[in-house]
Amino acid sequence: MDDIPFKIYSSTFKKKFKIYAKHMTPQRLLNYSLVQMSLKAKSPKVWGKPLSLFIEPTNICNLKCPLCPTGNNSTPKGKGYMKFEDYKKIIDALGSTAFSVTLWNYGEPSLNKDFIRMIKYAKTAGLKVITSTNGFVFKKKENIQELLDSGLDELILAVDGASEETYKQYRINGNFSELIQGAKALADAKKAQGKYFPYLSMQFIIMKSNEHEVEEIQKLAKEVGVDELILKTVYLWNDAKMAEKYLPQDKKFSRYLTDEGVKCKTSIRPGCDGLWIGVNINYDGMVVPCCFDTHELFKFGNAVTVKDFDKEIWNSKQFQAFRRNVWEDKGSVQMCKNCPTNTESQDYARLKFSHVEVEELKEMEAAAEA
Ligand SMILES: C[S@@+](CC[C@H](N)C(=O)[O-])C[C@H]1O[C@@H](n2cnc3c(N)ncnc32)[C@H](O)[C@@H]1O
Ligand code: SF4
Repeated sequence: MDDIPFKIYSSTFKKKFKIYAKHMTPQRLLNYSLVQMSLKAKSPKVWGKPLSLFIEPTNICNLKCPLCPTGNNSTPKGKGYMKFEDYKKIIDALGSTAFSVTLWNYGEPSLNKDFIRMIKYAKTAGLKVITSTNGFVFKKKENIQELLDSGLDELILAVDGASEETYKQYRINGNFSELIQGAKALADAKKAQGKYFPYLSMQFIIMKSNEHEVEEIQKLAKEVGVDELILKTVYLWNDAKMAEKYLPQDKKFSRYLTDEGVKCKTSIRPGCDGLWIGVNINYDGMVVPCCFDTHELFKFGNAVTVKDFDKEIWNSKQFQAFRRNVWEDKGSVQMCKNCPTNTESQDYARLKFSHVEVEELKEMEAAAEA
């Protein structure tokens, strides 16, 4: 592996600074401080508004990944697409105080006909936008340029195999060569146009079926020309029966204490910071505490039709009670019991390719001179 010029280190601070500094406003800074203060004080009422908006463009998907609630069709909810007007309403209401939009939940975001328009709209509101694709976005060649021009900050490419054979075991119905070719075309076009964004993160979920390819995927990531390779640990949805089939044999690749079923490794802090920081909005506007509430067991209201988001949803009695419960006893809420939030990272490693650093430095210098 000596020929592979990557290095492992946390890029989080630098990347975040680069993205957020551009759009910092006094309003956002104040909101950030208020949210952090309420979190520190463990106040179930949040004094600020959500910093992160998790928005689901659709819960429909072209693949059938066996551990994904959309892929295995285990959610009772009907399927649909978020309407652009609804999305716009949400961004207009919450965008000026928020920092980021994560455009996915369960489903393939690029199946929404307004996917690129959604990215652009959030960018004009000064938000960081990150999304994840199974490669469907590359079906239309023109999307390569559209993505480059959209302002998208980060694109996660779900590549869970270094070969067609292993890829297809999890990404059922996926098209490996289309995904790799599309990713390469995007990386090449980005380089040719001297662009830093979208930052390309190839993601590889380490499972029993592909753990022998951890070295191979690094070579592939380098060949494709992505900026970062995320080696992610697999999530088993509280289902210990899945461990035998999916958990890698090498324990270091697991997020779980392997002798204790699906119990996550050490908690860094009690509770769940996510309940103060972000809000999860499904395709029809329904607000649930987070992406793990796949059955909408805790519905806090509709972000599209609500009159007063703060009073009726964000700081409603139900949302406050939920924050309090999870803070006091995370284990008392079934879906939160083995949730990885506030535990060690869900990523085994993030490998950042060194050429990015050079470009990053150039960009920073240019920004400083401007
Ligand atoms: C549900 S997917 C939706 C976005 C898109 N369809 C995709 O697959 O990238 C959201 C994220 O969950 C990841 N994911 C899917 N199954 C997973 C699992 N069992 N454990 C950990 N992450 C998983 C995907 O790779 C993706 O980054
Ligand atoms: S591609 Fe994404 S949304 Fe679709 S089934 Fe797989 S993980 Fe789920």
